[in-house]
Amino acid sequence: MRVVFAADYFEKTVPDEQYRSEAAAFVRAGVPVSTVSVDDLSTAKLVPKPEPEETVVYRGWMLNEASYKQLVSVVEASNAKPLTPLDGYLLTHHIPNWYPLVTEYTPETIVLPEGTNYEAELRKLDWPKFFVKDYVKSLKTSMGSVITDAGDIGRLVEEMAKYRGEIEGGLCVRQFEEFRAGSEIRYFVVDGQPMGPDAEAIPRVVEECATRVGSRLFSIDVATRADGVERIVELGDGQVSDLVGWQVDRFVEAVSGVL
Ligand SMILES: Nc1ncnc2c1ncn2[C@@H]1O[C@H](COP(=O)(O)OP(=O)(O)OP(=O)(O)O)[C@@H](O)[C@H]1O
Ligand SMILES: [Mg+2]
Repeated sequence: MRVVFAADYFEKTVPDEQYRSEAAAFVRAGVPVSTVSVDDLSTAKLVPKPEPEETVVYRGWMLNEASYKQLVSVVEASNAKPLTPLDGYLLTHHIPNWYPLVTEYTPETIVLPEGTNYEAELRKLDWPKFFVKDYVKSLKTSMGSVITDAGDIGRLVEEMAKYRGEIEGGLCVRQFEEFRAGSEIRYFVVDGQPMGPDAEAIPRVVEECATRVGSRLFSIDVATRADGVERIVELGDGQVSDLVGWQVDRFVEAVSGVL
């Protein structure tokens, strides 16, 4: 196995120390490391080149579908294999793919393709509050991702396109659920094995989710709802998940020990 870091992760991320120390920790664990420039994947190369047939794990920025597809081509052009093929990446990266696998554990969600009359669709739902994302991300700036009035959806979509640069896929409108402040925890599942940031017990919803999702490396964010029920907030591809709450060494040990 080899870990390939997005090259400019080191230069552009503040604090960049985290990624340098992650790469150093993989090397200490005996896992070779390369970099790839994701700014232009059409001409990119893995530096240094992997061994033939080596399995490659990417760590870096979230990539959209077209870019991840290019990354897979770059890896394959080096005679190496991606740990996660394109369909596996999109399975945990895009809500409409993972939502059907864990519907009962996560806020109810409807998917609206671009071009839909969003306001009309929201009015049909009998929901007091809506949490709006595209297939990947919420809106963290501007007016935020939560609206109570369906009439505000047009403005939210405009702001999302502006701040996110694009609407990735389409719109996902999720029922708002009240989560306990500070209760969200990120778990990683490596080859079917769920792990948390510390030795605490793994919640049952995480155990269950780990058996249902066919990706070798993904993250599960779980928060406690006001009524005490553990809820999945979102899944993510483990290659592009931040280490929220995790010590670098624990993540590196989890990934390099099991794969
Ligand atoms: N349906 C929901 N109801 C209420 N709060 C929600 C809902 N979905 C998400 N949240 C809250 O908003 C935060 C951000 O949501 P989410 O993780 O889905 O978006 P994101 O853009 O991927 O954010 P991040 O980069 O923080 O992971 C969550 O950590 C959670 O606290
Ligand atoms: Mg999140």
